Amino acid sequence: MRMIKWQNGTVITPDQTKLPLQEVTLEIKTVDQMAEAIKTLRVRGAPLLGAAAGFAVALAAYHSNAKTREKFLAELEAAGTVIKRQRPTAVNLFWGVDRVLSKARTVQGGVDKIRAEVIAEAEKIADEDAAQNRAIGKNGSILIKDGDTILTHCNAGELATVEYGTALGVIRTAWEEGKNIKVIADETRPLLQGARLTAYELRREGIPVTLITDNMAGWIMHKGLVNKVIVGADRIVQDAVVNKIGTFSVAVLAHEHGIPFYVAAPTSTFDLEHKASDVIIEERKPEEVTHICSCQIAPDGIDVFNPAFDITPLKYVSAIICESQVFYPKDFNKLKKRT
Ligand code: MRU
Repeated sequence: MRMIKWQNGTVITPDQTKLPLQEVTLEIKTVDQMAEAIKTLRVRGAPLLGAAAGFAVALAAYHSNAKTREKFLAELEAAGTVIKRQRPTAVNLFWGVDRVLSKARTVQGGVDKIRAEVIAEAEKIADEDAAQNRAIGKNGSILIKDGDTILTHCNAGELATVEYGTALGVIRTAWEEGKNIKVIADETRPLLQGARLTAYELRREGIPVTLITDNMAGWIMHKGLVNKVIVGADRIVQDAVVNKIGTFSVAVLAHEHGIPFYVAAPTSTFDLEHKASDVIIEERKPEEVTHICSCQIAPDGIDVFNPAFDITPLKYVSAIICESQVFYPKDFNKLKKRT
């Protein structure tokens, strides 16, 4: 199912903060509405953020009244700056803005020509992401065997992408190939993307899924109840994988128990000019920890630390699955050589 669509100057996408209890569709018409949707995680997940970023610049182009090329390009740049300010960690957000802006700059011609090309480029990003996720699914499914129980963290499913999902794309392909598999979904505190979104998506597909709280993962591994882990990524740098907070703990636990830990992501999530030490980890508001939904669970005024992501060194990663190939540890030095 398409998670984001362009419809005559409006971006159509589900409001992910309402799932799984309500299925609400957002109709985003302005850059500011898109910025708000990104900030509040109505639109979330690295590849989806890449597509949303492209469409945000397309919204600026579609609704602009600028008459000159210079003024028009300046408006698109300003839209890109607004979008990039919303979240610092998922590289796709920056990549999506930059890709559409650089297209805009290279178009020879006036405002109408640039506008048409900007919208086409944003749609191309979305189409490519959909195709890449299916390729990731195919490449990754060879790692999944009949009878596997696979633990996943956060939501790297179709909701986090334009279509099909990355980590859940691999699971989906294995399931479509007839493999008898089960999934264990970490709830993923504080914002519960595992409980709200992964559990919802897999149930809808009929793929067997069991929900656990994050602190159960170690015990479940110790009991031999899981034999593979697969997660998505928000940024893959030369020496590490950046993903939802809690991923690092899962990776260390998998390593301790000799369980393969796989990462599935499109190349739009690769940022091979940087290292782990360069990455800005988003810190979000304390209420996400002191409250569950709108219910307060901690004393008033308590100090809170709320990093939204963590960083897993490559030594814990058994393979990175992307649309073109599977990188195994023997290939990881190629990631560094790309710079
Ligand atoms: O804060 P979120 O919900 O945007 O974080 C999403 C994740 O961490 C996902 O695991 C990641 O983006 C991969 S999505 C294919």
